[in-house]
Amino acid sequence: MDIWLNQVDKSSPTPLYEQLYHEMKEAIIRGDLEVGTKLPSKRQLSEFLAISQTTIELAYGQLVAEGFIKAVARSGYYVEQVEELAYVDETRMEHEQSESLKHVYSIDFNSGRIDTSAFPFNQWRKYAKEVLDETSRDLLLLGHPQGDVELRQEIASYLYSSRGVRCTAQQVVIGSGTEQLMPLLIRLLGKQSVFAIENPGYPMTHHIFDNNDRKTLAVPVDEDGMQVAELDKKPANVAYVTPSHQFPTGAILSASRRVQLLNWASAKEGRYIIEDDYDSEFRYVGKPIPSLQGMDQRERVIYISTFSKSLMPSLRIAYFVLPMHLLQAYRQTFPYYSSTVPRLDQHVLAQFMRDGHFSKHLNRMRKLYRKKLEKLTQALDAYKPTVQISGEQAGMHIVLTIDSESSDSELVELAKQQDIRVYALSDYHHPTENIPSNPQVLIGFGGFEEEAFGPAIEALMKAWHIKKA
Ligand SMILES: Cc1ncc(COP(=O)(O)O)c(C=O)c1O
Repeated sequence: MDIWLNQVDKSSPTPLYEQLYHEMKEAIIRGDLEVGTKLPSKRQLSEFLAISQTTIELAYGQLVAEGFIKAVARSGYYVEQVEELAYVDETRMEHEQSESLKHVYSIDFNSGRIDTSAFPFNQWRKYAKEVLDETSRDLLLLGHPQGDVELRQEIASYLYSSRGVRCTAQQVVIGSGTEQLMPLLIRLLGKQSVFAIENPGYPMTHHIFDNNDRKTLAVPVDEDGMQVAELDKKPANVAYVTPSHQFPTGAILSASRRVQLLNWASAKEGRYIIEDDYDSEFRYVGKPIPSLQGMDQRERVIYISTFSKSLMPSLRIAYFVLPMHLLQAYRQTFPYYSSTVPRLDQHVLAQFMRDGHFSKHLNRMRKLYRKKLEKLTQALDAYKPTVQISGEQAGMHIVLTIDSESSDSELVELAKQQDIRVYALSDYHHPTENIPSNPQVLIGFGGFEEEAFGPAIEALMKAWHIKKA
């Protein structure tokens, strides 16, 4: 048993069971432990190493699961034959292992989570079965580079009826995510373009501008969305905005700012607005906010949206709508690009939309998210006025402004110590800009069970030492 003596370092940040598992696995691979060797019992090893039996049990359990040892009932644990492991790529195994050991929080207010309980599996399966048929052999070949016309038509008519977007199918380009489509727009708009971005804003697109070596200028956002007067002072020619539900503040671009922004765009040649309408399907108060694209008379708005919130993030289908006059330039810039979305998926979605299931699904989900939001705000009401809510008119996240001496990062850390994950708003701010004095935290509610909000908010407030009013 001595060989185990130096195998665990209690001062290391790596969990003890993981250290033990790793050392035992290595010893088996090296042949230090021969096939058939009986391992010490959990009790013996726990006494010998002065660590808990649970730790040993976790390490043994992992080794059994991976086939390094086997458990024999009423006898103990024995080393297995592992010759084939010589061919296993260790670096890959370690990567997979660290992925599977990624921390899962007991309470996670991630804003990217959707509710998966109400997904219409039956309908989706029906269309998937129909599409996966010999009569659809043609779908095995490459389709239209902008995405198949069947889906582009469905998207165009959905956008007109629900968002007031005016376009034909030929203006629609489908791709496997906002993340994948933005680089195309960036290239289309040329190297000389300078992008105005919202501050705070959506980090993913901001990274994409940086990675494509495009200059960005941060424009502050207040409760009415991007401050267009500030935008006017900057030498930018493209404004990237989330007007229907600003990410992350949740502000809605006011009517007068919309007009101002459209006027800014039409004031000079070569100015554009990229309207990211990522979660506008879920609006809970009043009438839907019409899209900027629908108000635009001068072809200055490039509209972009996604099915990540409305259906599922793993579908990886998003789209943009180009102004007519940019179509030719687009086709010339990307003559050899194939669509990044599998045609089978495109057709499942097109038929799902054609038969009205998408609209039904949205109505169902809107009700469901509205109910969740009600539960969440009810749970938070008890902590007013210390905790104030904003951005609750649409989408799947809200912002809490907390009357506290701590910074938002400190509040995030306090929550983390109780195994709760929330998100600091300062993380979405441009580094050079001032951050508001009262800490603000973003919390998502889409993936939460309705009945979980009460206890989760209670646990969060306890972590922050905030008492009910
Ligand atoms: C502002 C914004 N745009 C777009 C998206 C969706 O991105 P994608 O289509 O790559 O999933 C999100 C998702 O959270 C978002 O917050």
